[in-house]
Amino acid sequence: EKYSIVNKDTCIACGACAATAPDLFDYDDEGLAFTLLDQNTGNAAVPDELLEDLVDAYEGCPTESICLSDEPFNGQVVNQ
Ligand code: F3S
Repeated sequence: EKYSIVNKDTCIACGACAATAPDLFDYDDEGLAFTLLDQNTGNAAVPDELLEDLVDAYEGCPTESICLSDEPFNGQVVNQ
């Protein structure tokens, strides 16, 4: 299983991730990204059919703000 959380401290609101993976990411009022599945707690396993989008967004983020893990994040950003 894959889990994802956005590091909002390093996100620069570039807007790439939700364009790449609209089912996984959205932007808050400041344009900072968050995970749609779990409101950026990183606790929801990403469905298999969205894993390709997830990896594309992960690789496309210019500030490496999208964190991936095999374990839930419990709201704690862990940089890879
Ligand atoms: Fe932010 Fe990276 Fe998305 S900078 S808006 S998390 S592509």
